[in-house]
Amino acid sequence: MNEEFNKAEEILDQIKSAEPTNVEELENFRIKYLGSKNEIKPLFSKMGSLKPEDRKAYGQLLNKLKNTAEERYNTLKPALEQREKQAEYRDIDLTAPPAPIKHGARHPVDIVMNRVISIFQKMGFLLAEDREIEDDWHNFTAMNTPEDHPARDMQDTYYLRDFEGLLLRTHTSSVQARVMTSAKPPIRIIAPGRVYRNETISARSHCQFHQVEGLYIDRDVSFADLKQTLLHYAREMYGPDAKIRLRPSYFPFTEPSAEVDVYWGLESETDKRITKGTGWLEIMGCGMVDPQVLENCGIDPSEYSGFAFGMGIERQALLQYRIEDIRWLFENDIRFLKQFHPAI
Ligand code: DAH
Repeated sequence: MNEEFNKAEEILDQIKSAEPTNVEELENFRIKYLGSKNEIKPLFSKMGSLKPEDRKAYGQLLNKLKNTAEERYNTLKPALEQREKQAEYRDIDLTAPPAPIKHGARHPVDIVMNRVISIFQKMGFLLAEDREIEDDWHNFTAMNTPEDHPARDMQDTYYLRDFEGLLLRTHTSSVQARVMTSAKPPIRIIAPGRVYRNETISARSHCQFHQVEGLYIDRDVSFADLKQTLLHYAREMYGPDAKIRLRPSYFPFTEPSAEVDVYWGLESETDKRITKGTGWLEIMGCGMVDPQVLENCGIDPSEYSGFAFGMGIERQALLQYRIEDIRWLFENDIRFLKQFHPAI
């Protein structure tokens, strides 16, 4: 009978002294003493060969074996798992500085637009933003382009199908009418924003783009004021040596009207191509506000005069960044956009 007891005591000692040091060794411990083919099980079958008076003590000893194995397993398991987890982090340098946060980049249209706005704000122009869905009166009629006026063909318009008289504004000049009908002179505003025209999309033109409109109305505003303001703009935008020229043109809302070119140069082949061999690039339309427009908007033309201008932003963004195709500006391709830095 001693033999069975000795064997059991021996296993009990092994259980007590086992020191699994990692999760894998612990699993081996579990298989050995608690698994379906554990080493304690065969000891139970020895029960029958024992003297009846020894069986109780033997049974108790075997139970103790099982319980001890279970207890050891249950206390070792969380400790070893925790240690394993910590080991995973051991190689991480907690004092290292974090990886830099990736900054977004500003959209090139936004960069150019902000520069234009800031140049005019420094000259005292206030920001006037207004709606993109406009009515016919503010977009056309007030701007001296009544229905059937041939100049309406200059801007192919998107009309809202189920909303009589509403359209997507074709130019920011509509904001001139908005401001003049709600404020009294002196008025000095710039109106940046998106405009829409039903044009075929190509490398050079798009059905949506951005403009910045300018309007200055006061007593004795002259064409000389307009020229000086635009020259100052060009020098701020294109450098202190920038040159501009004004060519006579036609807009229904200004008289006289002009188009403004900035001198781009003729050095490279690209210069020649984008300026069509002239060296000059058109960047905006402008003129003295037609007295009829003032009158349409409730301002007395015998007391006040003013100038206005409207410039395209995409055009200038293409120039400044040498972007070949206007469509890139609207495709939101991250590979394109991330090249522009947020500095300005
Ligand atoms: N609205 C014109 C356009 O979109 C641009 C323009 C020309 C605006 C002359 C003006 C202006 O304010 O005076 O083509």
